[in-house]
Amino acid sequence: MADIKKGLAGVVVDYTAISKVNPETNSLLYRGYPVQELAATQPFEAVAYLMWNGELPTDQQLADLRATERAHRALTPEVKQAIDLLPTSAHPMDEVRTAVSAIGATETAGITNVLDAVGTPEENLERSVRLFAALPAIVAYGQRRRRGEEAVEPRDDLDYAANFLWMTFGEEADPVVVDAFNRSMILYAEHSFNASTFTARVVTSTLSDLYSAVVGAIGALKGPLHGGANEAVLHVFDEIGTADNVAPWLDEALAEKRKIMGFGHRVYKRGDSRVPTMKTALDTLVEHYDRPEVAALYDNLESEFVSRKGIYPNLDYPSGPAYNLMGFDTLTFTPLFVASRITGWTAHIIEQQGDNALIRPLSEYNGPDERHIEGYVPDAANL
Ligand code: SDX
Repeated sequence: MADIKKGLAGVVVDYTAISKVNPETNSLLYRGYPVQELAATQPFEAVAYLMWNGELPTDQQLADLRATERAHRALTPEVKQAIDLLPTSAHPMDEVRTAVSAIGATETAGITNVLDAVGTPEENLERSVRLFAALPAIVAYGQRRRRGEEAVEPRDDLDYAANFLWMTFGEEADPVVVDAFNRSMILYAEHSFNASTFTARVVTSTLSDLYSAVVGAIGALKGPLHGGANEAVLHVFDEIGTADNVAPWLDEALAEKRKIMGFGHRVYKRGDSRVPTMKTALDTLVEHYDRPEVAALYDNLESEFVSRKGIYPNLDYPSGPAYNLMGFDTLTFTPLFVASRITGWTAHIIEQQGDNALIRPLSEYNGPDERHIEGYVPDAANL
């Protein structure tokens, strides 16, 4: 009987130098740096640089990255047209997936030999920075379009986080909100071989292009067992309503064997290393917006579920209510995850290209034994 590893649980398939997820110590390192230190001290642009280059940037390197990022922030007419083709009721993850696909089709147009589309490491780093720069405008336009509002042009006097909020809401965000948003972007950026990152590596392993790998990753991230959970957390909060309804709601949900969104993790089994940092950011927002009822519901559901099932929150649990307090529509949450994770995905794509092997596991056949069609007589050509 074959030793099947369903969902590749516990299977180590390759090395990576980008991040280390350690459930024993409940820790996460990006290129050796604890994520808590990065979230507390760095602008997201610096962490993006670290992801791609393996080191934190010097002042000049950060200034250069910022200049390039700011030069590519604006929504291009082609991308706006691609998004405008979709109904405003389309899921925002489908909008983002379509926009990235349109960018890829445009940027690789004219390449007739598929072997040339894969690009050099230098080309792919440039492509990565351009996607990193373009995604905030795509996500911001998606939310504004759904609200019947016009796109807001980027401002090159604001850093990445502040500009993202500016383009989404059309006003300068309070520094408290900018800081919480910047921290969330850093926490969401990278997490070793999660399903969407591994999808990107599988696509890359066939020597397909970076954009195709990112589109695949976006498709994987949309799922509620993965990135889609942060959106689903808000649906849970909306269902429960108030803190005093947690216990009866949980009775019913667990009786129906529902997965409670925002809890559990394939790798972390005693809590997600990123949660305390994001929870602190959420607490700051609860105080800033004077919304104690959000904290009460959050705390009640966490304590009730952990005490009953011994399953702990993952990053999506504090992120959902935090993004809600910042003013993002619930449907915008997972696109925010895309805007952050594009840095980890593209770092993995470049790493995979650097030491590639086609990713093609085996399967154990358990279908019908060989059999033949009644009366079929193979002709000489088929013998
Ligand atoms: C992310 O991989 C990554 O690193 C992902 C991520 C990243 O940064 O890229 O960290 C981001 O995707 C976080 C996870 C977001 N997803 C959710 O919050 C959805 C709810 N979570 C579950 O679906 C679940 O916890 C998974 C999918 C995340 C992990 O599940 P596993 O490892 O496949 O384990 P499992 O589903 O087999 O669960 C083991 C047991 C089961 O009970 P039994 O069937 O054995 O009785 O625990 C139960 C599960 O039913 N369980 C849950 C639960 N999570 C696990 N029961 C209810 N609610 C949950 N949330």
